[in-house]
Amino acid sequence: MMRVCEWLFVTLLVYCLVGRFGVEGLDQNTLTERISGSAGDVLEDNPVGKLQVYVYELPSKYNKKILQKDSRCLNHMFAAEIFMHRFLLSSPVRTRNPEEADWFYTPVYTTCDLTPTGLPLPFKSPRMMRSAIQLISSNWPYWNRTEGADHFFVVPHDFGACFHYQEEKAIERGILPLLRRATLVQTFGQRNHVCLKEGSITIPPYAPPQKMQAHLIPPETPRSIFVYFRGLFYDVNNDPEGGYYARGARASVWENFKNNPLFDISTDHPTTYYEDMQRSIFCLCPLGWAPWSPRLVEAVVFGCIPVIIADDIVLPFADAIPWEDIGVFLAEKDVPNLDTILTSIEPEVVLRKQRLLANPSMKQAMLFPQPAQPRDAFHQILNGLARKLPHDKNVHLKPGEKILDWSVGPVGDLKPW
Ligand SMILES: *[C@@H]1O[C@H](CO)[C@@H](O)[C@H](O)[C@H]1NC(C)=O
Repeated sequence: MMRVCEWLFVTLLVYCLVGRFGVEGLDQNTLTERISGSAGDVLEDNPVGKLQVYVYELPSKYNKKILQKDSRCLNHMFAAEIFMHRFLLSSPVRTRNPEEADWFYTPVYTTCDLTPTGLPLPFKSPRMMRSAIQLISSNWPYWNRTEGADHFFVVPHDFGACFHYQEEKAIERGILPLLRRATLVQTFGQRNHVCLKEGSITIPPYAPPQKMQAHLIPPETPRSIFVYFRGLFYDVNNDPEGGYYARGARASVWENFKNNPLFDISTDHPTTYYEDMQRSIFCLCPLGWAPWSPRLVEAVVFGCIPVIIADDIVLPFADAIPWEDIGVFLAEKDVPNLDTILTSIEPEVVLRKQRLLANPSMKQAMLFPQPAQPRDAFHQILNGLARKLPHDKNVHLKPGEKILDWSVGPVGDLKPW
């Protein structure tokens, strides 16, 4: 009883304060609060003038034709590869002159082969990627010059350029050998993992901006839900014995807190999902099969403090966004203490996180809007690429030097596409 009272006290206090300082009531100082620990105002950087990108023109079978076959590719969480292409085509950083380019971009849609339920099948992706690289390396001189070290690729698969949705298989495959020197722009991020190489840019998954916008509720609405989560706790089909899916973390959330009145958690996905997040103080973002999920984007956009349960996760734009300040990080093994950990966070700390989340730059950085807007995820990707310039001198190979081996990889990957 005592504990429930304490919780209620904390929760009520938080509402009251939130009510008082609701987004509308924020004064200029609070809105522009600078975040200690982040690299100053990097989220607000404007990449225009800092880099030039050359977009290879590929036959439409590598991009547009694939999309024509399945328009669902425009709405799923892997859609960043398509929108990044569209964005670059009309971006002021695009150059038509490859001689003056800092970066080369190959528009190839490798996640747009979907199952009837809408999950991407990565089996042809390596062949398709290989075919695209073969094409650019024979039609233009720029690939051979560096073997891709000044090229970037968007690979939003579960495990990036490892091109498999099962972690063991992904690890076994490793990053596609031809992409070893390129910069990878990917949603997958986990420290010390073979599918995340150094220098990659971790991005948020795609979440539909208009749809989210359509579900906004008045910002002064009190946050009456303490902890919110919707999603799977077990994956009975792919993990019948349990323990592998989410490394048991989601199962532990359910087993420990299903009857806890502070936890609004369930597998049912309600039509009020987006509204509910705006009525919640904490939103759980546990790993699933991969550490990342769209929940992180949704939590930030809806001002719900993300509770990140995914050991070693590398978060999107981690060099620009102060995740430690806006979120709560919980080790997977500490899930049984989730209630005590969250209820013992000081209300001022909760409020500060909510204020930082209310910063429009933070939300903008998580989204891929059409048309693009300043400070959005497209611009953050460009900022990330610009910060890697100038390229190291050794990106250029000596005449006749070859580093990549075109003959390695599973035989299936070496077949023509
Ligand atoms: C690049 O190198 C490959 C052999 O590794 C060669 O077949 C191709 O013609 C070269 N491309 C150009 C544009 O010279």
